[in-house]
Amino acid sequence: MAIFGFIGVGNMGGALAKAAVKNVPGKEVLVSSLHPEHAKKFALEHGVTAAGNAEIAKEAKFIMLGVKPQFMDQVVSDLQPILKERTDAVLVSMAAGISMEHIADLTGGNYPVIRIMPNTPSSVGRGMTLYEANDQVRPQDLEQFLHLMSGAGVFDRLPEHLIDAGSVVAGCGPAFLCLMAEAMADGGVACGLPRDKALSYAVETMAGTAELLRQTGLHPGALKDAVCSPGGTTIQGVRALKKSGFESAMMEAVIAAYEKNKEFIM
Ligand SMILES: NC(=O)c1ccc[n+]([C@@H]2O[C@H](COP(=O)([O-])OP(=O)(O)OC[C@H]3O[C@@H](n4cnc5c(N)ncnc54)[C@H](OP(=O)(O)O)[C@@H]3O)[C@@H](O)[C@H]2O)c1
Repeated sequence: MAIFGFIGVGNMGGALAKAAVKNVPGKEVLVSSLHPEHAKKFALEHGVTAAGNAEIAKEAKFIMLGVKPQFMDQVVSDLQPILKERTDAVLVSMAAGISMEHIADLTGGNYPVIRIMPNTPSSVGRGMTLYEANDQVRPQDLEQFLHLMSGAGVFDRLPEHLIDAGSVVAGCGPAFLCLMAEAMADGGVACGLPRDKALSYAVETMAGTAELLRQTGLHPGALKDAVCSPGGTTIQGVRALKKSGFESAMMEAVIAAYEKNKEFIM
């Protein structure tokens, strides 16, 4: 019996497997992939155990479904005969747009399903993961799951109908923030900074600002005001950002991702 089995260790499944191994011995973390050599390489690099999908379905308590949404039906349907024989497993889906009901249907009925929506910073223990569980998940299993996955960062329970909205802020957010970091660094380079210094200043400033917002609980507007001295330089930068539609561009990005996400909802 293993604790975790990751079916798919790409960007997201891989990030969570790396977090899982902080709390669970590597022999209790099984990983599989479409191309077995990918799982073997991952296992070697991260001290976990390569396996096949069927072995994971037989052995793992928490079966982490880390395949792309379009492959989910096939992968879970193939495992249905094995899952049917088990009473102690919990399916954990991280797929965008796929409901717990849909996953349970693929197993042929009332299967325990936890739905999570993680993000890539989970790989460094700073993830923001939204989650919900169906009625078949026993509270002690949910508690164990959250405890063992705590190395991924923060987990927040959210009603399932809001997970898609939450996922475009938390799940897509790293891409939006990376664009911002790159653009800030480009600005620094335009002003004469070497590229590596410009990027590291932008990254540290983003991380520090996020920590400041988190620790003080201040509204972002208040923190922005605190940096803008009257007649100073920062307010001129803020003026340029507002003139270029920075805030509405970010809102549009979130809404565009949400609209796209709705196309996948099952
Ligand atoms: N990326 C994100 O930021 C993010 C955020 C939140 C949620 N998610 C969700 O996470 C899931 C995975 O996305 P991703 O970005 O990590 O995708 P990805 O990098 O393409 O990884 C997909 C993984 O699935 C494996 N796979 C495909 N078919 C398989 C099969 N039949 N059996 C076993 N493994 C199989 C692939 O194996 P090979 O390497 O051998 O091809 C690969 O390891 C998606 O459902 C997505 O919605 C992603």
